[in-house]
Amino acid sequence: METIYLDHAATSPMHPEVVEVMTKAFAQTFGNPSSIHTEGRQARKVLDDARTSLARAIGAKDTEIILTSGGTEADNMAIFGAANMLKSKGKHIITTQVEHHAVLHACEKLEKEGFEVTYLPVDESGRISIEDFKNALREDSILATIMYGNNEIGTVQPIEEIGAILKDHQAVFHTDAVQAFGLEKLNVDDLQVDLLSVSSHKLNGPKGIGFLYQRTGTPLSPTFFGGSQEKKRRAGTENVPAAVGFSKAVEIAQNQMDSKRDQYEKFRSIFIQVLDSESIQYQVNGNEEHSLPHILNISFKGMEVESFLVNLDMSAVYASSGSACTAGSIDPSHVLVAMFGNDSEALRNSIRFSFGLGLTEEIIREAAMRTAKIVQRLAN
Ligand SMILES: Cc1ncc(COP(=O)(O)O)c(C=O)c1O
Repeated sequence: METIYLDHAATSPMHPEVVEVMTKAFAQTFGNPSSIHTEGRQARKVLDDARTSLARAIGAKDTEIILTSGGTEADNMAIFGAANMLKSKGKHIITTQVEHHAVLHACEKLEKEGFEVTYLPVDESGRISIEDFKNALREDSILATIMYGNNEIGTVQPIEEIGAILKDHQAVFHTDAVQAFGLEKLNVDDLQVDLLSVSSHKLNGPKGIGFLYQRTGTPLSPTFFGGSQEKKRRAGTENVPAAVGFSKAVEIAQNQMDSKRDQYEKFRSIFIQVLDSESIQYQVNGNEEHSLPHILNISFKGMEVESFLVNLDMSAVYASSGSACTAGSIDPSHVLVAMFGNDSEALRNSIRFSFGLGLTEEIIREAAMRTAKIVQRLAN
């Protein structure tokens, strides 16, 4: 049976062109970019070029890009780095109940250190309200960290509106754009964000690399100490081949953004059409209007997520119960709890299908059919 990978929000395979440029970089660009000899200078040039194209993708300057080991590090760097620098101006932070754990657990750690955190609630579509945000904002707020698009249900938050509200406020504005980057047009000036996190492996680049965008002048203390790499903001010898692969992946994603978006919208409707034609009882979770196109989260009436995932796996359809970090565990998703409360059936019967490289309409139809067959067999 042909395997069908529908877990691209957890991670997505490397694009063949990314593998190609990285293979070349591994073989040819081994120098340390901090070395002053020719070998080092060549590596520096390759790294600088990669950084320039990463910066260009979000309308930033090269100096505003801090390469990290991925989205988790970028989120942690933003939150601890800003909180540490601004603590003399206030100790209040605003975030949402539906952030990735890289943000939530960082905020929880800061609470233990004496910061006060407001976790904004969301509606049943997973969206915060601007009114709630305005009400939560205080004179002593120093940081707002609100994700761009949710990794479990795809809901997009009103980032531009929050950026406008914070324009003349002391609070630094961070957004986790890990799921959105590559599928949404992100311009840091339009969004008016100060800090923005991105990860390479979600858009067909290598794992273990990402970046934090830091607007010039935004206070941020370093989290690593050592050499003067990344303008002393993140010490450690740079991973040049990964940076090359990352920038290639971003270049491809930028070129294909519109066609990818259209394709994933189509996949969504095909999947749903098949469920309808097989008379499956389901509910799509998320926001119809404000949504990332590659994430389709569905509750299936009468199903239990663990046995469902095992059966999908046996049918060679690889999906997930939500965030990659909680996959395989029976903990209910904090995102679905925030949307529906503790007692909702959706906590036990929701599956996330996510689209990406290599899929076709035919494959999606087949995946939906296999899913429908399992529901017909198991639903009670
Ligand atoms: C929204 C979001 N933020 C952060 C991360 C963490 O990124 P990384 O896996 O690169 O550490 C993820 C990964 O699942 C994510 O989906």
